[in-house]
Amino acid sequence: ATEEQMYRPNFHFTPKKGWMNDPNGMFYLNGTYHLFFQHTPFQSVPDFSKMHWGHAISNDLIKWEELTPAIAYDEKGAIFSGSAVVDKDNTSGFGDGKNVPIVAIFTYHDMKKEQAGAIDAQSQAIAYSLDNGKTWTKYSNNPVLKNPGIKDFRDPKVFWDAKREQWVMGLAAQDRQHFYGSKNLKDWTFLSEFGKDVGGHGGVWECPDLFPIKVAGTDEEKWVLIVNINPGGSNGGSAAQYFVGDFDGKKFEMDPLFTKQLQKEKVAWLDMGRDNYASVSFDNVPDNKRVIIGWMSNWDYAQQVPTNQWRGSTTIARELKLIKKEDHYSLISTPVSELEKYTSKSIKKKKIRANENITLVKDNKIDLTKAVINLNLKNLEAETYTFVLSNKEGESLTFGINNSDHYLFLDRTKSGKNNFSEKFASTITKAILDANQKEASFKIILDKTSIEIFFNNGEKVITEIFFNSSPFTKLDVVSKGKIEIEDLEINQLNIN
Ligand code: FRU
Repeated sequence: ATEEQMYRPNFHFTPKKGWMNDPNGMFYLNGTYHLFFQHTPFQSVPDFSKMHWGHAISNDLIKWEELTPAIAYDEKGAIFSGSAVVDKDNTSGFGDGKNVPIVAIFTYHDMKKEQAGAIDAQSQAIAYSLDNGKTWTKYSNNPVLKNPGIKDFRDPKVFWDAKREQWVMGLAAQDRQHFYGSKNLKDWTFLSEFGKDVGGHGGVWECPDLFPIKVAGTDEEKWVLIVNINPGGSNGGSAAQYFVGDFDGKKFEMDPLFTKQLQKEKVAWLDMGRDNYASVSFDNVPDNKRVIIGWMSNWDYAQQVPTNQWRGSTTIARELKLIKKEDHYSLISTPVSELEKYTSKSIKKKKIRANENITLVKDNKIDLTKAVINLNLKNLEAETYTFVLSNKEGESLTFGINNSDHYLFLDRTKSGKNNFSEKFASTITKAILDANQKEASFKIILDKTSIEIFFNNGEKVITEIFFNSSPFTKLDVVSKGKIEIEDLEINQLNIN
């Protein structure tokens, strides 16, 4: 089989050719979702002196069409990560009276400066589009925010703060967040710093995202700050953490309950898997929905994964909800509902009862390289429940719950090719669970080379990639006691 046949995802976005990492500048306008991404079009490893913003569009967040790269590097530097906003009121003055200006805010990374030992190689710049994001003009007065003497000073994420009628930019400043404000996207003033002594600090606080969100089921508004961190992730390398609090137009402050929560948990992770990085949200999505997409890889081994034509893909688009249970906040994510319209045939079963093991899928009844599995386990009494995806080569990807040591896990150590990097499959990914689970629900999204596990409606998520030598065709459950599956639904996705 060719690399294309074996590894190119069926429905997760990946460029036709070349390297990709972070999603950038995502926005929605007039029925179209735009995804830009860190891209080196001419080779499948990153060239940090020639980074572009690649571009893809979709009308449903699931099926993406790649366009030509939108913003290319120039003599001021490579185009690193950033965001884009729909400037409806033409605060920037870039509008022409007919078209809404879209303004992209990105980091210039000046490689020559960096190599000469300068500390100020990263600065923030803007570009605008008057044709719905297709073509871009860089602002003549770039950069709009010079480097204040901080080596890692990048990844501006901008949003419109309606209450204060200002644009707010959050960006990485080493292992802190800095916030700036502006009336016109061109002149920026420093607002505040966040991050001292809270959360994980094993690496740089890259690709932040601050946004308001309602506490689910109430009218209470909170602010969530997502902070991607590399290295220092939950299970090693790159990962995303978050904070819950309030924003007064100047400062982000943690909610007292969340502060307490962190004293115990130390870090709140958005995804416990190894392959969800640089997750940030779209601008301007209708109905106040907060939709995020991440890069489905990890800097620990991203440049070594065994593909050659291209490297890197996105996660499935996810909708975020903030829930508050007693005195605990969780930012939960679930796949966007648009995925459901690709469901074609399915297996549906109720009340499956078995002792110790049972086969749920075999003989290619379902193509497990494009499937969504939903199931609920009841009366959990055994110590472990292990789901096993396997192929005829004897490779297997396993996941499940350990109910005596209280954790959810995903094990890719025997899932196929893994010798390209020592860091790829050296450990089993674990997500700690509060206590014994009496019931558990799983939504699992399978593509050719990825698994996304949404446990208990997205309270815990594990996203990881794998490289098996032939597709998994069988799914079993194994336990050390009785198995009670209340509902099982396996949906085939009709999508390529
Ligand atoms: C995160 C990151 C960003 C940077 C970009 C460069 O993965 O390191 O901080 O802007 O990638 O491609």
